[in-house]
Amino acid sequence: MIPQRMIDEVRQGTDIVDVVSDYVKLNPSGRHYKALSPFTQEKTPSFIVSPDKQIFKCFSSGKGGNVFSFVMEMEKVTFPEAVELLAKRAGIDVSKYRQEGARKDEQRQDSRFDTLRWAARFFHGNLESDAGKRAYAYLAGSRGLEAGTIRRFGLGFAPESWDHLLHASTRDNIPVEHLTELGLLTRHHQRNTLYDTLRNRVIFPIFTIGGQVAGFGGRTLSDDPETPKYINSPESATFEKSKLLYGMHAAKDEIRRQEAAILVEGYMDVIALHQAGITNAVASCGTALTRYQAKILKRYTSRVLFLYDGDNAGKKSMLAGIDILLSEGLTPWVLLLPGGEDPDSFIRNRGKEAFFKEMQDNRTPFLDFQLRCFRDAGMMDAPDQASKAVSAMTRSISLVPDPVQKELYLDELSRQLGISRKTLLKVMPSADSGRPSGPPPREEEKKAAAPAPPPNRPLSVSERTFLEALLESTFYGNEVLAFAASHEQMLSLSNHAAQAVLRHLVDRFRELDPKAGHGIDITAEITSISMPEARDLALDILFRLPVQEQAPLLPDQTMQHARRCLSHFLIAVKTLVLEPLQQEKQTVLAQLAGTTEKADEKKLFMRLHELNSKIRSMDQEVTGSINAILEREA
Ligand code: UTP
Ligand code: MN
Repeated sequence: MIPQRMIDEVRQGTDIVDVVSDYVKLNPSGRHYKALSPFTQEKTPSFIVSPDKQIFKCFSSGKGGNVFSFVMEMEKVTFPEAVELLAKRAGIDVSKYRQEGARKDEQRQDSRFDTLRWAARFFHGNLESDAGKRAYAYLAGSRGLEAGTIRRFGLGFAPESWDHLLHASTRDNIPVEHLTELGLLTRHHQRNTLYDTLRNRVIFPIFTIGGQVAGFGGRTLSDDPETPKYINSPESATFEKSKLLYGMHAAKDEIRRQEAAILVEGYMDVIALHQAGITNAVASCGTALTRYQAKILKRYTSRVLFLYDGDNAGKKSMLAGIDILLSEGLTPWVLLLPGGEDPDSFIRNRGKEAFFKEMQDNRTPFLDFQLRCFRDAGMMDAPDQASKAVSAMTRSISLVPDPVQKELYLDELSRQLGISRKTLLKVMPSADSGRPSGPPPREEEKKAAAPAPPPNRPLSVSERTFLEALLESTFYGNEVLAFAASHEQMLSLSNHAAQAVLRHLVDRFRELDPKAGHGIDITAEITSISMPEARDLALDILFRLPVQEQAPLLPDQTMQHARRCLSHFLIAVKTLVLEPLQQEKQTVLAQLAGTTEKADEKKLFMRLHELNSKIRSMDQEVTGSINAILEREA
């Protein structure tokens, strides 16, 4: 268990804007920052970060919370792991608490991430040991990697053995289920034994954007054509190749700085480029570029340079990738390396300088590349073929979401082909029919589209006002919470989410040590509310609240704000408490006006009398408490 004070320290040492910036491109928008949501496939930004309150909210998926919840979501980790990741960032060491927990817990509930980290260290250790001499020589010799590069990318080695990893995992007490789930151990079904999946392979750990190991790729060292060149970790909930870009953790800052990314095909290409100082390169890991990967790129930049193998397969992949990028609003460029080389072999064979020169001189806009492909295929010579090619190109342009860009591309195509814009428009598919058939929308999106289950009672205006004041008050101390706690009986909210927020805060207030003299941390509290609707409601309210001024307030200004907030709260309490009674009174009055029956009239008068005295006594009680508070404050 990480103690609360350490968690607080980590939170205070962390800026949510800084952390979120590792994953999305934030744009300032008033007091907030806005971005395209990293959780859904949206086109207009609905992901908002508040630097003042240190919270985020994604209005399209409904997800929201503080910096810990964000990291949990993005890195798919548990709360303690998120704390640990952020602690590392903030330069705070919390590792001793993790070890303590692991030792106490004989069941070894350590996460899969611990196992992945262990495995990465194990493979890397092998490479640097005697057993790894040959593999090291291969990487350093024929692949030209420097020691620093090998370390930076955490490269490793799995020796030619059926039980090397198996033995080490028993020795280090690593859960076998984790290793089988991660595909590092395979079960031999007839004999019911386990063996190492990766043998005689160089290991490439694959990292999440936050720099954690998520899986592995292993390249064989054998020449046997029967052996697959690469074996990658199997797909799982935490390792989806279609949603990862190899090298992103190392490239993200440079991509943002240069406002451009280089997209290559293989692990070795990324590593070779980084070693040459071109550190904005990432790879799609051998899969065709997915829309998901395009969206990841879009969070950092809008310009992407394809640098795939120059062979036919590479060209085909780039043509398909261009459409994916265009439909996500990215601008593709292409660099075709001569001689069918990939970036890795080009740099090794011809050197860095030649590579830089290629980058300078020969990168082309995607339209030129498409045209060149069609020309090379002889399609532009015969009218029937040319017509097909032109349709294909207009189709690509039709995918561009931005209308101005679309126009400009069309102009360019018209100029290059010598075909009028009017004619091009005739063959260009309309925007919607032209969409590439990407994967179906993600779960979150479907969920977000489905209507939320109706709350027990819609949130009333007075309930909202009450919660607003309650939440805002926590910026100024515990006074209001103390009041709410002592008047809990009176304060029952008919909206269940609202009631859950109130309950949670009151409970937390009661757990506080009054002598500790500190208030509750509202963003931390809100994100730990278990009912999702309640959490969302509280976050939503917190977002809309006016923030305290950025410049430090003068002490008497703070007092003024606090007092204003308190009186808002008290008025809200009064309204809230009296509201149901007042409403009933209105109903009774209406019935009275409509009735002629003497007996009914009498009953109604009695009820009215009851209500009036109830309202009076409630009013007195609440006003009394309110005055007591206000006097103390003054
Ligand atoms: P390549 O066959 O171009 O390999 O596949 P490479 O990266 O150039 O490797 P070297 O230079 O021969 O060592 C490109 C990428 O496709 C994926 C890998 O991510 C590889 O880096 N791939 C390839 C696989 O996942 N499995 C395979 O069997 C082959
Ligand atoms: Mn290669």
